[in-house]
Amino acid sequence: MVKAIRFHETGGPEVLKLVDVEVGEPGAGQARVRHSHIALNFIDVYFRTGRYPLPLPNGLGSDAVGVVEAVGPGVTDVRVGDRVGYLMGPQGAYSQARVMPAEVLIPLPGGISDRSAATLMMKGMTAQYLFRQVYPLQGGETILYHAAAGGVGLIACQWARAMGVTMIGTVSTDEKAELARAHGCAHTIVTSRENIVARVKEITDGQGVPVVYDSVGKDTLMDSLDCLRPRGHLVSNGTSSGPVVIDSQLLAVKGSLWVTRPAMVHYIQPRAHMLDMARELFDHVLAGRIVSEPQQVFALADAAEAHRTLEARRTLGATVLVP
Ligand SMILES: NC(=O)c1ccc[n+]([C@@H]2O[C@H](COP(=O)([O-])OP(=O)(O)OC[C@H]3O[C@@H](n4cnc5c(N)ncnc54)[C@H](OP(=O)(O)O)[C@@H]3O)[C@@H](O)[C@H]2O)c1
Repeated sequence: MVKAIRFHETGGPEVLKLVDVEVGEPGAGQARVRHSHIALNFIDVYFRTGRYPLPLPNGLGSDAVGVVEAVGPGVTDVRVGDRVGYLMGPQGAYSQARVMPAEVLIPLPGGISDRSAATLMMKGMTAQYLFRQVYPLQGGETILYHAAAGGVGLIACQWARAMGVTMIGTVSTDEKAELARAHGCAHTIVTSRENIVARVKEITDGQGVPVVYDSVGKDTLMDSLDCLRPRGHLVSNGTSSGPVVIDSQLLAVKGSLWVTRPAMVHYIQPRAHMLDMARELFDHVLAGRIVSEPQQVFALADAAEAHRTLEARRTLGATVLVP
């Protein structure tokens, strides 16, 4: 038996319960992974609240690192003893150990600790696909990026700097602004006291930006559209403040704008491509261009408290759970 988080109903953080579960032996194509660190992601909140429906009861989490303890028949992607991480697959990462499809496991290079890797799998791979695939950035561009001091945000700040991209990042507090700038964000806008559109126009000499990466959603949608130059791109990659609804006529009126709502699953397959993405991310980390450590660490048993902190916007950077 191992300890794992399960929820029997959707709702607030209190629905997350620590229980004993049977793990069992891996079947064909599967591996059993003993977790050392589990990553907290905002998408976990969407599943917990039911915004993204799951059959119940269910486990939670899709992002963890650990060591392969056992493999089932036919597994060639990983071996017993490998250090691995993952960001895809069935929900259930909030657990001490679990059985997983082996094809989603990513071997971790020496030189990157488990603790750091747990901040990279979902969040670093998100920065990779947003900046290198969804709207491929060019050095010299100036971009607007919302929640720049968040888990994905601090990696995005560093990735932008490494590409020679000038990032304008929004944050809610001065402490977050300082942290984002320390990670390479060139300009910060503190949303509690500054006007996003006015500041972006000021920084870009009235031109606006070619792309906005907006994970905040409902609260920032209109500002994001107003910060774009004609034919600019809105990458609507999250809805931390609530879902967005866009009137297509508005896109014409505001400058023949493009909008995409990307999901990782469509940018990460096949496996060889996922491993290429991870290699690019790990190269940045091993070269010191991206440094990523958790800013908050909670015990697995305190997953509910970790959710409360994330939803209250009290986290900086990445958060991990330790089983
Ligand atoms: N599409 C994809 O494939 C994909 C993949 C990974 C993540 N995402 C999305 O990317 C975003 C970042 O994920 P993350 O795990 O790194 O989270 P995070 O950025 O660490 O946390 C969310 C941040 O959003 C900001 N925020 C603004 N309004 C908010 C509100 N009403 N409630 C809560 N937060 C609010 C807060 O920063 P401030 O206080 O500074 O405003 C908060 O810290 C999420 O929206 C997530 O769903 C999408």
